[in-house]
Amino acid sequence: KLSKVSLEEAERNKRQAFNDTPHFFLHHHKLCNYKGFWLSENVVTNVELLRDGFAPRPTDVFIASHPKCGTTWLKGLAFAALNRLLTLNPHECVPLLEVTLQGMNLSYVESMSSPRLLSFHLPASMLPTSINDVFSNCRIIYVCRETKDVFTSTWHFYQTLIESVGMKPPPIEDAFESFCGGVVPYGPIWEHVLEYWRESQQKPGKVLFLRYEEMIEDPRRILRMIAQFMGCEFSKEEENTGLVDKLVELCGFNSLSNIEENKHELIIDGNIKIKKSLFFRKGLVGDWANLLTPEMAQRLDEITQEKFNGSGLNF
Ligand code: A3P
Repeated sequence: KLSKVSLEEAERNKRQAFNDTPHFFLHHHKLCNYKGFWLSENVVTNVELLRDGFAPRPTDVFIASHPKCGTTWLKGLAFAALNRLLTLNPHECVPLLEVTLQGMNLSYVESMSSPRLLSFHLPASMLPTSINDVFSNCRIIYVCRETKDVFTSTWHFYQTLIESVGMKPPPIEDAFESFCGGVVPYGPIWEHVLEYWRESQQKPGKVLFLRYEEMIEDPRRILRMIAQFMGCEFSKEEENTGLVDKLVELCGFNSLSNIEENKHELIIDGNIKIKKSLFFRKGLVGDWANLLTPEMAQRLDEITQEKFNGSGLNF
């Protein structure tokens, strides 16, 4: 148990960390542009360490995403497909490799039994080459989301986080400019999405590319697709007992956001403690309309169209 003094100290450190932030989405570590993406300094260190120290297994499945695209939900669905159950917050079941492994203690990940479900927010070009290797056989499931909704989700997430440490969030206009310029953890989002999109086009058996909107539209179809991709499709008997419906229900917004586990905190990026409930807000498509002005919406749409032009990817 932490003593009162150390709790106060932790609180002070957290405030200090927030004061140090150089951008409008707030991070306790400064973001730096590493190979074209904005990452916190400790993530950059971990990218290097992972490249040398991480040994993938052929049965590994990685959940990959830009933050706020539905990672929590996808982790839940994939875990439920693999184990036919879900009892904890999905972040507990599926560790985020480049962040969870502070100090690069890989022993927990190494002790996990196969098949392992692990996750990354890293862009595809930064994954350890051993994972990207076509012969490694590990698989990647990527989820993306419509950009205006990603901004909206990101804005609310950081706003709540900033207010929780007694500070004032930045004006939304500044945060919006930052996002449009790609200066957001793991941004720019467009390049992040495109890298995985191209991988999925070149190696469809290795990378499954999903969209949050299609998960919302037909979660049963997506759950079956995930299970098939991971080589653990549902049997006729399982289908007949309604297992797919049950698992979709278990991972649904209402169910996941109400589990007891969410009352506890989760440590992200080394030492920022956040309420697990922060990963559940509305879970809707199109909520941007309640936040963005028509001009902001148009600007983001134009950037998205320009960036995705010619890629075969449409939103
Ligand atoms: P909103 O902020 O738009 O509500 P991530 O897990 O990548 O951080 O993404 C968070 C977003 O996914 C949030 O979007 C959150 O509400 C939504 N989400 C989390 N669990 C969900 C679920 N089971 N079903 C649908 N959306 C979910």
